[in-house]
Amino acid sequence: MAQELRFGLIGVGAVSPRHVTAIKATPGASLVAVCSRNEEKVKACAKESGGVAWTTDYREILKRSDINAVAVTLPHDLHESVCIGAAAAGKHIMMEKPLAITVAECDRMIAACEKAGVTLATCYQGRFDPLPRKLHADLQAGKLGRLLLASLHVNWYRDMTYYNSAPWRGSWKTEGGGVLTTQASHGLDMLLWLAGPLESVTAQMATLDHKIEVEDVVHALLRFKSGALGIIETTTLAYPGFNEQLDFTGTNGSVIFEKGTGRLRWYLKEPKSEWVDQGEASSGAGSAMAISAGPHIAAYQDFAAAIREKRAPLIDGKEGRRSTEVIQAIYKSGREKTTVLLG
Ligand SMILES: NC(=O)c1ccc[n+]([C@@H]2O[C@H](COP(=O)([O-])OP(=O)(O)OC[C@H]3O[C@@H](n4cnc5c(N)ncnc54)[C@H](O)[C@@H]3O)[C@@H](O)[C@H]2O)c1
Repeated sequence: MAQELRFGLIGVGAVSPRHVTAIKATPGASLVAVCSRNEEKVKACAKESGGVAWTTDYREILKRSDINAVAVTLPHDLHESVCIGAAAAGKHIMMEKPLAITVAECDRMIAACEKAGVTLATCYQGRFDPLPRKLHADLQAGKLGRLLLASLHVNWYRDMTYYNSAPWRGSWKTEGGGVLTTQASHGLDMLLWLAGPLESVTAQMATLDHKIEVEDVVHALLRFKSGALGIIETTTLAYPGFNEQLDFTGTNGSVIFEKGTGRLRWYLKEPKSEWVDQGEASSGAGSAMAISAGPHIAAYQDFAAAIREKRAPLIDGKEGRRSTEVIQAIYKSGREKTTVLLG
């Protein structure tokens, strides 16, 4: 019989409602207990989630023998310690993005999960959207010919209310980075998935107009291992916030993925044609609250199937590590004003 997944949710904040919805929507999964340091919030979440158990100490979740999986929606600096603790307690782990702040942290987490024989997934749920999945299949099938250019644009707006909304935001120690880590890492994950691995990055970054330590703008020049070139431009300064976009040009034409409006605009040379694939609109200009739980549900269903079928989830620890590696390379390049090679 398939193993029932009985979840503990660790972290009750902005993104956690999507995890509660996704767990409930996953056949064979249930939510057993929730945890947050904030007692008022965790009690309210437990009540709204159908009267599940609650605690303010995540170690209580790890000790429970009636829980065999955890969803971790905590500040970035806590991802490693909670993941390693959960693996040692034999729990499967759905970890919110980024997997961790540094590559060394990612490596220790992946090793701990392998040693314990538990499944680790990184929640870059955007890849589960049907539209990028179609784009991935079309690019793999060579619709654009040889890939020449691949770029990501995430120009959003966050004022200081956002950065002041939780004490961990805006700090190198606890958030681990700014707009690239927290807002653009979904797009980066997708870019790497769609266009392939990078050979090098050359970046500039700055904190131009927020009272925070971490960067609020990054511009990076990319060289892919395939020889293609590209850019990442991302900021939280661009009032009122613009739609996230990924664009790709190959020897046979171009495709623009307007993530916010859920549109793929194709322009092919052979056969000469232009058309639009319309999918579901997502977050518009990146208002986190407007995002539907649909892709999280798909991510949880893949996680459950991976455990059942004893295979890796679509976005496992190693896939999550890949974005962290590129983010850290871009920060190194920005700080040292040099080109950084990737392994
Ligand atoms: N996948 C997505 O689309 C998406 C969207 C938003 C956030 N996120 C990610 O989700 C994670 C959480 O982000 P958020 O915006 O929900 O943060 P948040 O600040 O709104 O929530 C974090 C929660 O963790 C709790 N917490 C902090 N320290 C704790 C501890 N030691 N023990 C127990 N609870 C503790 C806080 O009380 C708070 O309830 C981050 O990794 C973030 O990058 C992902």
